[in-house]
Amino acid sequence: MIVLVGGEKGGTGKTTIVTNLAAMRMQQINEILLIDTDKQSSASSWASVRDQNTEIKRVLSVQKFGNTINNEIRALHTKYNDILIDAGGQNSQELRASMLVAEKMYIPIQAGQFDVWTLGLMDQLVSQVKTFNPHLKAMVLINRASTNPSTTEIEEIFQVMSEFENLTLSAAILKERIAYRKAAKEGLSVVELNKQDPKATDEMQFLYNEIYDIV
Ligand SMILES: Nc1ncnc2c1ncn2[C@@H]1O[C@H](COP(=O)(O)OP(=O)(O)O)[C@@H](O)[C@H]1O
Ligand SMILES: [Mg+2]
Repeated sequence: MIVLVGGEKGGTGKTTIVTNLAAMRMQQINEILLIDTDKQSSASSWASVRDQNTEIKRVLSVQKFGNTINNEIRALHTKYNDILIDAGGQNSQELRASMLVAEKMYIPIQAGQFDVWTLGLMDQLVSQVKTFNPHLKAMVLINRASTNPSTTEIEEIFQVMSEFENLTLSAAILKERIAYRKAAKEGLSVVELNKQDPKATDEMQFLYNEIYDIV
């Protein structure tokens, strides 16, 4: 399956989420490819930090740029059954091209900076892409939610989500936790940290299970 983590906004957690998923997928099936289409190369840097740790399975990563990467990804998919794509950037041609080949797309949004306008654009974009890729399932994922149980923000998101025909709200919610920053620095996923934050592990596992249909 090709899973894309992308969106029009920067800093929402795309790289954090895709690298966690890549490490977890690697633990489960042993052969995956992480495709970094963001010129900031943060996913590639994560993978090279990870490469230095000989005690964990490395995650193979490649960088792809341009508006025809859909063809390259399709070709890579004949070799790698499981592909994860980090697609960022505003008006990114890589995001659009990746959407043509992905089966699932996760759009992280930062809790507290809920941006209806940007999501409206994503809804339209998904609608356009569906003409060419009817299998695309686009999910909105709340990230960096407050660990304090004030839920008004999330309720607001629930309400607004009903306006979007092509976007579904993920049942997973990721909260603001230091474990994500720690893991990123070490080229790990939160489930691989020596000193784990069980809540981070649980919520990431929940997301993983949703994506890979594990019940
Ligand atoms: N759930 C989270 N808890 C704490 N920090 C987070 C979380 N998600 C992302 N971050 C931090 O927010 C910043 C932006 O995240 P990043 O994954 O690089 O976003 P993007 O790839 O969308 O630009 C990074 O410093 C990252 O460590
Ligand atoms: Mg990034």
